[in-house]
Amino acid sequence: MPHSDSVEQVLKHYALIRYRRFGGLSWEVLGYPFTAFRQFADTQLAYMLANRAAVVDWLTRQTEATDSQRADLLDFFTAHMVHFIQQRNQFVRMDDQTQHDLAAAYDAFLRDFRDAVLVAEHAQDLQAALDGVMIAHQADLQTVVRGLAARNGGAAFLFSEPVCSEYAAALQMQVLHLTPAHLTDPVLDLGCGPTGRLVHHLRAQGVAAVGVDRAAAGAAVLTPDPDGVILAGDWLDYPLRAGYWGAIISHMAFATHFLHHHLRQDGRPERYARRYMAILCALQPGGRFVYTPGLPFMEDLLPRDQYAVQRYAIPAVADRALAASLDRTFGAPVLYAAHVIRRG
Ligand SMILES: C[S@@+](CC[C@H](N)C(=O)[O-])C[C@H]1O[C@@H](n2cnc3c(N)ncnc32)[C@H](O)[C@@H]1O
Repeated sequence: MPHSDSVEQVLKHYALIRYRRFGGLSWEVLGYPFTAFRQFADTQLAYMLANRAAVVDWLTRQTEATDSQRADLLDFFTAHMVHFIQQRNQFVRMDDQTQHDLAAAYDAFLRDFRDAVLVAEHAQDLQAALDGVMIAHQADLQTVVRGLAARNGGAAFLFSEPVCSEYAAALQMQVLHLTPAHLTDPVLDLGCGPTGRLVHHLRAQGVAAVGVDRAAAGAAVLTPDPDGVILAGDWLDYPLRAGYWGAIISHMAFATHFLHHHLRQDGRPERYARRYMAILCALQPGGRFVYTPGLPFMEDLLPRDQYAVQRYAIPAVADRALAASLDRTFGAPVLYAAHVIRRG
């Protein structure tokens, strides 16, 4: 790090190095007593000791309730932890209790960390003290995650790590049965993935596309988005202007979660249903909402004088047994791509 960087920049940079290193591992990183998680690089220990007064002062200011910067650092940590959790299981409901518990865990962590820097004399002492700090912090995070599991249908569901991928743009176009001729500017990709592959693919072809994804916030730090076209946001809150969008696309995203909420015991399908209608209202006349999987229970209710519904088979569905089991679960086929077109 250049010498001119502030303590804040340096410490956040160190934190980011850790997220890059451990952020891709599985849940076990929280519980497994593994040494690498506790260890700090020699340069980091040396920096903290050489700048002890400034580091302690800054960490102290972060833990003062009245200091506005405190929220900044806690937000930084909690946002990354929320990202970690949602990348492991996209269906987790991140409630206020979890946000509160995470903030408390990081508050305790910052205080313990500050105390360790305050008293250590040598790099070895500091590392030994930080061992204890990290063990306690790991245990705190485990407690938070256990609480989250209890409020999300249990540990078996939370730790099941349902697949949540970003797909190649060409595959998305094929599965969605989408061609550039279907698209009128501007185009919105809801749940576009942290890096928004389809958005960039469309933009390269001259389409005015932007994407929204709740994981974009955490991802932006790791994979910067210089064009600013991938926005961090929740599709349930993202402001949708009536009659504005030429097309709204959502590949394996909004509809997947709608189906999940449709089945989930404490789900909120009504919220998704209201949002679905808001998405349709946000289309220009002649605009289309293109998504997969299908939502037959919504599409069947749409007034045909206002909306045309087109369904396209997904040729690549190889797992017939899975498709049949989904059909039984939902009482109708869902593995297709839907184009809902707002009539002009
Ligand atoms: C299976 S991925 C698909 C990503 C992309 N559409 C693709 O096909 O490559 C689902 C995406 O939905 C995002 N997501 C889940 N819930 C969301 C929400 N409430 N608001 C915004 N994005 C959400 C996830 O972060 C994830 O990137």
